[in-house]
Amino acid sequence: MNDEVSHLTAGAAALLSETNERRIRTIRSRRWVLYPRAKQALDRLSALLDHPRGTRMPSVAIYGDSGMGKTMIMKRFRDEHPPSFNPLTGTLKTPVLAMEMTSRPGERRFYAELLTLLGAPQRPRADIAQMEQAALRIMEAIGVQVLVIDELHNILAGSYREQRIVLNADSEVNRPGIPI
Ligand SMILES: Nc1ncnc2c1ncn2[C@@H]1O[C@H](COP(=O)(O)OP(=O)(O)OP(=O)(O)O)[C@@H](O)[C@H]1O
Ligand SMILES: [Mg+2]
Repeated sequence: MNDEVSHLTAGAAALLSETNERRIRTIRSRRWVLYPRAKQALDRLSALLDHPRGTRMPSVAIYGDSGMGKTMIMKRFRDEHPPSFNPLTGTLKTPVLAMEMTSRPGERRFYAELLTLLGAPQRPRADIAQMEQAALRIMEAIGVQVLVIDELHNILAGSYREQRIVLNADSEVNRPGIPI
């Protein structure tokens, strides 16, 4: 066997002396490769973060075949903008909130999922308007600037009317997007 390690990065070379378990664990761990399209998508998403608040906020749709890296981009974006604690105000700011579209569509399920993600207790008989108000209020309070929704295609399982309602709730998701 060739013991030459000069082609390895310092991090990879350091792993050579680790136990098999640790090396296997490292090999299996999530890895991030920045390819040009991913960078483009991350840049577009970051631009949303700086967008001033208005009545019609912009949105971006990222579409591509299964396994092309959409979820990875979303997670990367979230990890690049983690929640931060402001010691002056004593509040936690969450710039990016990532959720997965529920497998069965519908406005109620959408807001229920969002409220669960926000850690908000839900009244079992709350109507949709109350759920929407609660979700918007909490998102404003914790400083959410971008809401990322994975598996958005799940809304296709709904009727045309349900699709329009959920798309409306998500702002203008049906705008031109970024192919991956
Ligand atoms: N930027 C990346 N760096 C490293 N590995 C990646 C990257 N993007 C994708 N992969 C690999 O490809 C796999 C599939 O990517 P991902 O789950 O993001 O696809 P997807 O587009 O969300 O698919 P689906 O539409 O089925 O949800 C990941 O588990 C990962 O192993
Ligand atoms: Mg995915």
